[in-house]
Amino acid sequence: MFASSVVAALVALPFLAQSASAADCTRSYTIQDGDICDNISANNNVSTYQLAVTNPTIDGTCNNLQPGQTLCLGYEGQDCQTTYVVKGGDTCDQITGAHGINATMLWANNQQINADCTNIYIGEVLCVASEFGAPPAPSSLPITAIPAGATPAVPVVSTSSVVAATTSVASATPTPAAADEDDDDDLPFCDEL
Ligand SMILES: *[C@@H]1O[C@H](CO)[C@@H](O)[C@H](O)[C@H]1NC(C)=O
Ligand SMILES: *[C@@H]1O[C@H](CO)[C@@H](O)[C@H](O)[C@H]1NC(C)=O
Ligand SMILES: *[C@@H]1O[C@H](CO)[C@@H](O)[C@H](O)[C@H]1NC(C)=O
Repeated sequence: MFASSVVAALVALPFLAQSASAADCTRSYTIQDGDICDNISANNNVSTYQLAVTNPTIDGTCNNLQPGQTLCLGYEGQDCQTTYVVKGGDTCDQITGAHGINATMLWANNQQINADCTNIYIGEVLCVASEFGAPPAPSSLPITAIPAGATPAVPVVSTSSVVAATTSVASATPTPAAADEDDDDDLPFCDEL
């Protein structure tokens, strides 16, 4: 959802007019010309999910950023600042392993990730804190589809036998993994592919 660049404002949206948020904003950022959502996230240690939740006026494709306007980066007490930018080949199991957290915590802090972790994409910013720190999910969850133009972290293969990633370790069936050239993980986490 957050891959697109700032476009000249075709429509003047009342971007900040409706800022009656329940929680207090403790970090903010002024949009610069050329900003895109995931770069704002990466540069400020705020997850893609959190940026979406704390700024519900950003549209699903992040196409309505307007330079000069202010974004809220975190609510008081709901502000994860331990972040990781997804790289090509990453799986949720690698990410949790690398940061010493479990899948429950990764999903709790990044509620847009689907159960088998097939919708993370390169450049997406994840909260990898070891405690719950993200804002609660709004009634309409930030878009869970990989944004147009973004590259999935792992190549999408249509298998119906994808094991739910939340149940990690057990399924160490040695499927011929396509990725995994450089980065041999020590733990037998289930590879989705
Ligand atoms: C956003 O970040 C990516 C990855 O770091 C970088 O390649 C790209 O140039 C950045 N884009 C902008 C507009 O800053
Ligand atoms: C983001 O986190 C990194 C690693 O903890 C830190 O070095 C950096 O200063 C932080 N940046 C901001 C803008 O908070
Ligand atoms: C995941 O990690 C958190 C934080 O360390 C812990 O409280 C929780 O019990 C763990 N959950 C599982 C299912 O292991």
